[in-house]
Amino acid sequence: MIGVFDSGHGGLTVLRALVDELPDRRFFYFGDHARAPYGNRPAEDIHRLTQAAVEQLFALGCRLVVLACNTAAANSLRRLQQEWLPSAHADRRILGVLVPMVEAITGQAWTAQASSRRRVAAPRTVAVFATRGTVASNAYPVEIGKRAPEVTVVQQAAPQLVDLIEAGADKDLIRTAVHAYVGQLMDQLDGRPPDVVMLACTHYPLVADIFAEALPTGVEVLSQPRLVAGSLALYLRRHPEFDGIAGGPGVCFYTSGDAGRASCLGSAFFGRPVAFEAVGGTHRAKCGQRPASPMRIR
Ligand code: DGL
Repeated sequence: MIGVFDSGHGGLTVLRALVDELPDRRFFYFGDHARAPYGNRPAEDIHRLTQAAVEQLFALGCRLVVLACNTAAANSLRRLQQEWLPSAHADRRILGVLVPMVEAITGQAWTAQASSRRRVAAPRTVAVFATRGTVASNAYPVEIGKRAPEVTVVQQAAPQLVDLIEAGADKDLIRTAVHAYVGQLMDQLDGRPPDVVMLACTHYPLVADIFAEALPTGVEVLSQPRLVAGSLALYLRRHPEFDGIAGGPGVCFYTSGDAGRASCLGSAFFGRPVAFEAVGGTHRAKCGQRPASPMRIR
């Protein structure tokens, strides 16, 4: 099975696209609801929690894990891939939602060598809306800059949005917040519209319509779930050893938090009913397979 991780509910927007794109695969979703949100935490905390969450999915039997959380991927993906995985789990892989976004902007494969990079007509100005933790990591400007230095990347933190969305806040309240963040972005740009906007937080697809309404007409808004799903499909074609077919199609939902609460809110993010199971619980997993010795994260 393929592990999908988010700090809480947000990654369900990505999981929905993954299931649509790869309906015959088996996915295990883990939301670290007990410790969410990650977005306003210090970088070291985000890294520690992300590593523990990946360990959790590995313990459930996943050999491939997608970090479906920008805050986690921006702070931890490279570090986990380079400093931890080769010694701790050489036969497993971690992917992250940041990569397909950077590839879409630059038109370059993530792993392309600098010498072999093609020149492409990349957009001139890209705006990134994200959590404080993603913005502070600078991962998007750095990774885009390595591949397409001609692109200007402007970041705008939207620190209240995750809490508002998670709380199911009134649409008018969310609209006011989104318009304020778009206003702050436009101030940074002296009123010149960006060419492309990335909603680089997995919660934001739920309010993409409000971003579209608040942004100047004609600005392209990238759909992260769709890009991530296409990218995973290509990855699995190149790496059939991680195909995630074993056990048959299905999705299991695990949480470090309260399963009932996670299930109620989760359905809005996933777009269909979900039933979370608390990790460490004794019930049989909802899609019919008992997880292998689930661990507790401290
Ligand atoms: N899902 C996270 C992201 O994509 C944000 C939620 C949080 O702050 O934990 O960045």
